[in-house]
Amino acid sequence: MTSTPIPEQMTAIILESYDGADALRVVQRPVPRPGPKEVLVKVAAASINPSDLMFILGLYGFKKPTPTVPGFEGSGTVVAVGSGTGLMGRYLAGKRVACVTQQDGLWAEYTTTTVNYALPLDEAVSLEQGAMAVVNPLTAVALIDLAKKAGHQTVINTAAASALGLMLHRLGHQQGIEVVGIVRRPEQVAYLKQQGMTHVLDSSDPDFHRQIRDLCHQRHIHLAFDAVGGELPRQLLDAMPQHSRVTVYGGLSQQPVQVDVGALIFEDKRVDGFWLPPWVGQKNLLQNFLVWRRAQKLMLTTLKTEIRQRYPLAKTPQAVRDYESQMTGGKVLIMPGER
Ligand SMILES: NC(=O)c1ccc[n+]([C@@H]2O[C@H](COP(=O)([O-])OP(=O)(O)OC[C@H]3O[C@@H](n4cnc5c(N)ncnc54)[C@H](OP(=O)(O)O)[C@@H]3O)[C@@H](O)[C@H]2O)c1
Repeated sequence: MTSTPIPEQMTAIILESYDGADALRVVQRPVPRPGPKEVLVKVAAASINPSDLMFILGLYGFKKPTPTVPGFEGSGTVVAVGSGTGLMGRYLAGKRVACVTQQDGLWAEYTTTTVNYALPLDEAVSLEQGAMAVVNPLTAVALIDLAKKAGHQTVINTAAASALGLMLHRLGHQQGIEVVGIVRRPEQVAYLKQQGMTHVLDSSDPDFHRQIRDLCHQRHIHLAFDAVGGELPRQLLDAMPQHSRVTVYGGLSQQPVQVDVGALIFEDKRVDGFWLPPWVGQKNLLQNFLVWRRAQKLMLTTLKTEIRQRYPLAKTPQAVRDYESQMTGGKVLIMPGER
């Protein structure tokens, strides 16, 4: 199927222990072979997301035995298919795909993933955009759909200068839902206003609490999406009227969520969580196909991600440190094909 033969060995990044970027090593290891219902992908680009940072610190929803190859999301070309992949496997052979994996990951020259997690890319979508095409774009679609189905016209989103925050703002605007952004630095307020966001508040402003409370009551805001955790969910619940909800979808502060007991008991306020895999898992094959098709149509506009920097695979530890030090202003990509 592939014109270039698959080598025996590849370069990969392994995580030796759950100690973050310091525990990443560049190694040679055998190219994995696709098992039943799996495909082998030659990786073109891999993203670094907050979930990867949490994973390499042992703070994500699961751990794998070490050493393990990190990298949940990326793109590439399907170069071999395993048994039992059926029609889909035959269709994907040789195709460019976006892929996610919870097995050994994408910070490597080759990776395997289950056939359902390799999603064919439209011709118009580059492999670089493809490497950021699943996790954030589908989460944006999911959160805006949740807000819309529950009848909200205005919602709050925190860490709003993130790649996902920008997608939520643009997709919300298209769907008639205004997203109020909360950021933690004044320059992020200016950045988001330039992107066309009308209401952006800075949580480091001493007057933040009054500002957010006034806005929530004026605009009847009852739903907030939170990527930060710590004390922000408590502040948001306090600012919103009775019967409001904070949906936590990220833990950027790495702090436990705080909530006032009285808000839960006497004001019927709620905190819940959102994670993309169960949202995808609830849908049938056709529904997921339609979501993916819709996301791809928007990939070059509403769901586009800016790229700030590219690194060759061997410089992944440096890439991770670069991303940790500056998360706003575009993603850092790992490019296994570049030297
Ligand atoms: N639950 C799910 O299924 C799901 C799916 C996709 C994404 N997510 C979550 O969505 C969030 C955004 O992801 P992304 O890839 O769009 O991020 P990103 O583009 O890498 O941007 C991260 C943003 O968060 C800000 N930030 C970092 N630490 C912060 C803190 N302690 N308090 C406030 N702001 C902070 C950064 O600002 P600075 O420049 O100031 O650091 C930056 O603007 C992450 O939490 C991610 O885990 C969750």
